[in-house]
Amino acid sequence: ADPVEAAIDAFRAGEPVLVHDAADREGETDLVYPAAAVDPAAVARMRNDAGGLVCVALADAVADAFDLPFVQEDIDHPLAADHELAYDERSSFSLTVNHRETFTGITDEDRALTVRELGRHAADPSMEAFVESFRAPGHVHLLRAAPGLLADREGHTELGIALANAAGTEPAVVVCEMLDDETGGARSPVDARAYAARHDLVYVEGAALVDALR
Ligand code: 5RP
Ligand code: CA
Ligand code: ZN
Ligand code: ZN
Repeated sequence: ADPVEAAIDAFRAGEPVLVHDAADREGETDLVYPAAAVDPAAVARMRNDAGGLVCVALADAVADAFDLPFVQEDIDHPLAADHELAYDERSSFSLTVNHRETFTGITDEDRALTVRELGRHAADPSMEAFVESFRAPGHVHLLRAAPGLLADREGHTELGIALANAAGTEPAVVVCEMLDDETGGARSPVDARAYAARHDLVYVEGAALVDALR
């Protein structure tokens, strides 16, 4: 089956998809789930099998409704004034948040609640409900997708939201980089594909998503 179609089907079913951006970009494979489908077992899989940072990407319109800044533009500190990323023009990092019903915010249950509720709020964004439901700082990083998605930027942030749009799921996805337990570096595409095959998951190249969904 076509990997893009398979990825859309998996997403619609609430299953994770492995997305490799590009060898000439980060060269990372992220484990990506529709945010509303995340449960504590999914968070456990992200920290045990992926090992990167657990982040929730939101569509530009949702981020706007929640008045979410890009941290890089928002903090008045010299470290942010000269950000310089080696692989892209800018980072998509926004605030970190916890759902108000979490305790520490970091447990599998707490992060699953935060991620799932972000998915629910993204489906029908209201600033008032957002402020009532979440606090910052927290233990889940928010990412703001570029307004034109894949026409503007080809990061996991945009690849994930484009996939959600194609699947008709809410415009919120959780992403986590897959790291290699031996080297500590990014898991290679060969290894990521093997993980996907072993767990009956879909692996898709960013270029294929860009071609089909831009
Ligand atoms: C946050 C990151 C990840 O790479 C994530 O995939 C979002 O970034 P991008 O959109 O630039 O790929 O660095 O952990
Ligand atoms: Ca591990
Ligand atoms: Zn990435
Ligand atoms: Zn990264």
